[in-house]
Amino acid sequence: MGLVLGIESSCDETAAALVTSDRTILAQRIASQDAEHAPYGGVVPEIAARAHAERLAPMIDAVLKDAGKTLADCDAIAATAGPGLIGGVMVGLVSAKALAMASETPLIAVNHLEGHALSPRLSDPDLGFPYLLLLVSGGHCQILLVEGVGNYRRLATTIDDALGEAFDKSAKVLGLGYPGGPAVERLAKEGDAANVPLPRPLLGSKEPHFSFAGLKSAVLRAKDAGIHSNADIAASFQQAALDCVLDRLAFSADRIDPVPALVVAGGVAANAAIRAGLEEFAQTRGMRFVAPPPSLCTDNAAMIAWAGCERLALDGFRPDPLDIAAKPRWPLDPDAEPARGAGVKA
Ligand SMILES: Nc1ncnc2c1ncn2[C@@H]1O[C@H](COP(=O)(O)OP(=O)(O)OP(=O)(O)O)[C@@H](O)[C@H]1O
Ligand SMILES: [Mg+2]
Repeated sequence: MGLVLGIESSCDETAAALVTSDRTILAQRIASQDAEHAPYGGVVPEIAARAHAERLAPMIDAVLKDAGKTLADCDAIAATAGPGLIGGVMVGLVSAKALAMASETPLIAVNHLEGHALSPRLSDPDLGFPYLLLLVSGGHCQILLVEGVGNYRRLATTIDDALGEAFDKSAKVLGLGYPGGPAVERLAKEGDAANVPLPRPLLGSKEPHFSFAGLKSAVLRAKDAGIHSNADIAASFQQAALDCVLDRLAFSADRIDPVPALVVAGGVAANAAIRAGLEEFAQTRGMRFVAPPPSLCTDNAAMIAWAGCERLALDGFRPDPLDIAAKPRWPLDPDAEPARGAGVKA
């Protein structure tokens, strides 16, 4: 059985975890930087990098102690190597390199998006390949066909904002502060979506992609109009976002061979209304629906350690070299065509 130390530092959560290849999270710690970034209404990269640099080493030490393990017990050290805010990614990756070198333990440089993409297999031992994945986070909104570890076909992406970004920006408009997603979800429970007409961008489009910029602007106009309550606007925004997600999922699902499971991952997957809509969609199509627990949806190190476990279990596993670079951009499917409309000429 393998034991992997995971390190996450790509955005505003500093996290470390120890996970075994039989899906046990032996220990995990996470430090959010919400308080540091809240005054600015979003993540400030320089502040994030400094906070990771202060917190990561003692956190790794604490996680090892929590589990009663040492670096010598680890079969690999896995760290997010991108995509993300480069200062933070470098803190995590360089720390992992130093620990790997000092303890003569293999280094695994993990794509943060692969961490999200494989996280449902950590919580659900029965989830096999292939599966249809909706990856909805602060920086990404994609539909992927996951055919194996390291084997991802991007079917759709956003041409402007990510879904989490749309939640965060709408929260800002509604004065709900940062981070916005959970606050919008809470307020939406008190509102009536039917009271505020909002657009559903790209609904029925013949392209597979998402767009949320127009929806976000419509939230701003609804707020400025001063007619509706914040709760009604939040409920309507959430419903419009869900309608768009389901329409785009149907488009992609109709164009691939049937797969047994619909899976959701990334921070927005923590949203209960979105999960409920996806579960119903999966049921109508005879698919299993799999969603990790909310704590594994938002950024965490257990998913990075798990991605390391998955890599370690591959035939012909090879550690990453100590000179591997941190990558601000790192698509899961490097062969995906640029999305038309995303500022790219067709
Ligand atoms: N309950 C919720 N409802 C809606 N959105 C949510 C909820 N909880 C978290 N989010 C959103 O999820 C996003 C954070 O997710 P995550 O931590 O996976 O993103 P990220 O790491 O910043 O981006 P990426 O993974 O694309 O690099 C934020 O935009 C946040 O508002
Ligand atoms: Mg993330």
